[in-house]
Amino acid sequence: MIKSPLTPINPSQLNVWSALQAAALVAQKRHLKAYFSESENRFQSLQYRAAGLTLDLSRHHIDDNITSLLLSLAKQCNIEKAIEAQLSGQHINFTEDRPVLHTQQRLPINSDTINPEVRKVREKIRAITEKVQTRQWLGYSGKPIEDVINIGIGGSDLGPRMATEALQHLHHPTLKVHFSANIDPSDLRQTLEKLKPETTLIIVASKSWSTLETLSNATTAKQWICDAASNDSCIAQHFIAISSRPELCQQFGIDPVNILPMDDGIGGRYSLWSAVGLSIALSTSADVFEELLNGAHQMDRHFATSPIDNKLPLLLALIEIWYVNFWGAKSIATLPYNHDLRLFPDFLQQLTMESNGKSVDREGKLIDYDTCPVEWGSAGTIGQHSFHQLLHQGTQMIPVDFILPLKSPTGNQAQYNHLISNCLAQSQALMDGVSAQTMAKKLIKEGSVRTEAQQLAAHKAIPGNRPSTIISMASLTPSTLGALIALYEHKVFCQGIIWNINSFDQWGVELGKVISKDIYPGVMGASANMENPATAASVAEYLALLGGSD
Ligand code: F6P
Repeated sequence: MIKSPLTPINPSQLNVWSALQAAALVAQKRHLKAYFSESENRFQSLQYRAAGLTLDLSRHHIDDNITSLLLSLAKQCNIEKAIEAQLSGQHINFTEDRPVLHTQQRLPINSDTINPEVRKVREKIRAITEKVQTRQWLGYSGKPIEDVINIGIGGSDLGPRMATEALQHLHHPTLKVHFSANIDPSDLRQTLEKLKPETTLIIVASKSWSTLETLSNATTAKQWICDAASNDSCIAQHFIAISSRPELCQQFGIDPVNILPMDDGIGGRYSLWSAVGLSIALSTSADVFEELLNGAHQMDRHFATSPIDNKLPLLLALIEIWYVNFWGAKSIATLPYNHDLRLFPDFLQQLTMESNGKSVDREGKLIDYDTCPVEWGSAGTIGQHSFHQLLHQGTQMIPVDFILPLKSPTGNQAQYNHLISNCLAQSQALMDGVSAQTMAKKLIKEGSVRTEAQQLAAHKAIPGNRPSTIISMASLTPSTLGALIALYEHKVFCQGIIWNINSFDQWGVELGKVISKDIYPGVMGASANMENPATAASVAEYLALLGGSD
């Protein structure tokens, strides 16, 4: 392990931290509505724009003083140096001794500074995409490819799956792209049973080429195609690998010309910008993929060059830090008001929690403040008929990010406009709420007896004063989607810097993988190394059930 090139600073030891604690005690007594009545141009002054996105921070418990304290916290944690270190590809992932290179993947293809290897991969993505989409890539029986399955998990799945879903209005008319991730054989089986082996192309995406789920599913898919073809030579026509371990892909049987490299400096959760984006290009086009990269690059430029008090990712990061560290928020909901973006919360869960779910600082010392909150959410308006109850009347204050593309690609804008009004309504209900008194008056006016009205009003009242962000864009295009993803990536980065943690490793996910390898022989009925008494007893119990009749 090398030393972090970023100076470790404990944020909770800074004077500005105590100043923010004091500011929070005052702010917690204020109502969001008061901020609007005190400043005529509050709404306008809290709109921030970059790369086709508008970040509306007006419905937050902030004023000039709080914003400047938060910015001062960021400055004292050397945020500007850290941004430069990330964007210039320094070894800031010091616990894995790796540089952080995902932003370099999205440089314009003709840029002088692009790494020639990155350019080569992008050219290869285009060549493969065009060959498959023009029906020149033939399967073992001589028929053109009709379906592609991306087999991968974590970042080798969530990013490309989410982007492919989000861009479905730009999908290729006939070529279909599917995703399979889970070790449960049902996942792949449900896809395979709809497809024909002779016209199916498999992409195996695994940076490490050691992931159990991916290798198991890849082996099943290989068997499925080879059985149908009655020979193993078909692998060359039906398999593409994306990995930083080309020698292992070759051992699996994949033709070296069909192996796309991946640099170790691209963290799993940032994979979609690399060759792993091939499935996005295949489902849409190579031009669409380039536009996606370009949108993200626009956000990178904004992040690098805009003044510190206008950097959208930093502002988003600071708002969340304000609630997590000074108001005690434990979770954040991200609610896309757009059905095509419904997988965005799933993608954000890995990006956010795998990056910042940490409790030691960059020097390995236990930290004494909260880091990553629980990240969750789902598509509006579906969640309104489910968990929004808790957002409005639950005991916790949960800050919400609404994501709102304004135009529908369906042509039915009139119906889509209900999404816009529902999004604004949710944000307003969170902020305004309704008091028991107002509710009682309303019930009495509607004919209820006073005592009953008062009792019922207590149940119907909504506390309000709950904050939300609205991130809007004219429409969801490859470019605005790229900018949106990069906005959140940089938000997570800024938080990691301020919390003094390494956002680029994920050691916490390793232990369970290792233990599972020890348990597996036991579940198979063989002798196994199971030191934990609860595990050993569970395995014995399950074996009895597995052996019994249903
Ligand atoms: O287990 C977590 C993880 O390491 C993620 O960080 C990564 O995206 C995923 O597994 C898949 O890894 P790979 O691409 O190496 O198969």
